[in-house]
Amino acid sequence: MLKYKLLEYLKSSDGFVSGEELGERLGVSRSAVWKEIRSLRNDGYNIEAVTNRGYVLRDIGDVLNSSEINTIKEGCVIGKDVVCYNDVDSTNSVCKIEALNGAEEGMVIVAETQSGGRGRLGRTWNSQRGEGVYMTVLLRPDIDPSKLSSITLSAGLAVCEALNKDFGLKTQIKWPNDIILNGKKICGILTEMSGQLQKVDFVVVGIGINVNVINFPDEIKDKATSIFIETGEKFKRSPIAKSVLIHFDEIYKKFVEKGFAAIKEDYEKNCVNIGRKVRVISRESSFEALAVETSDNGELVVLCDNGQKKEVFSGEVSVRGVY
Ligand code: BTN
Repeated sequence: MLKYKLLEYLKSSDGFVSGEELGERLGVSRSAVWKEIRSLRNDGYNIEAVTNRGYVLRDIGDVLNSSEINTIKEGCVIGKDVVCYNDVDSTNSVCKIEALNGAEEGMVIVAETQSGGRGRLGRTWNSQRGEGVYMTVLLRPDIDPSKLSSITLSAGLAVCEALNKDFGLKTQIKWPNDIILNGKKICGILTEMSGQLQKVDFVVVGIGINVNVINFPDEIKDKATSIFIETGEKFKRSPIAKSVLIHFDEIYKKFVEKGFAAIKEDYEKNCVNIGRKVRVISRESSFEALAVETSDNGELVVLCDNGQKKEVFSGEVSVRGVY
């Protein structure tokens, strides 16, 4: 696309580039260059134009588009094809349609807002326009469906490592896959799959990160927070999305090759539950125990008061001091 070629050119240039030079490089007229510059400005790029000098890219702004997010240069599978929308009902739903139409593994659907963002257990996901990262990754893993829950754990680890290593935050994972900052949730992951009992056809992993959210509805105020609320700093969404995809690509490859055991150590290092008293709440019962580790399949291993070890597969696990 002409617009993005022009953008790449501005990004790689030191200082002003004249409209004439840009036109020559791209094989278009100066007025065509001006039209694309206006369109880029409209997207949020801060491009200065000075008569007789040309154009210079001053700041990228908080833009969400494929050229800012795709991971093609790093040679990743996840994120090499990124499609951005203004409005969707749910990025998971759009991604499922793409999957049914034969889209390749690694495709990512991103949106500025979702009118029907979905959370786990039938909940809704708060998706204010421009304030969060709402994206879904399409995967086609050749694994047993029983191993699927570990994909969600891999995605959780990817978000946690991306935010900590690349943005200097101190997030943690609350098993199985909520990401928390200062004891409150900043990210949730919803994995949905299509396939039969023996074979996975495709999996969509939906990731919602509260980046610059200022207000939450009363019902979730005590539990939810955003990076902005916790740090007082506004973060750009595209670099966050890109970083998560790069980390996810690396972790997912390890997982597909060697199973959860290959990422267990990193997961446990970041997991807030480990070494703490937790309350396990299932449909049948609710009990307190000490969380000691994760199993090779990603279950939470807890030590009960009677000395018995139990593996927790699903359900809610609460940790004291964490929402
Ligand atoms: C949770 O309940 O913790 C999971 C929330 C998952 C939200 C994300 S936002 C992008 C993707 N699209 C959806 O509709 N849901 C997921």
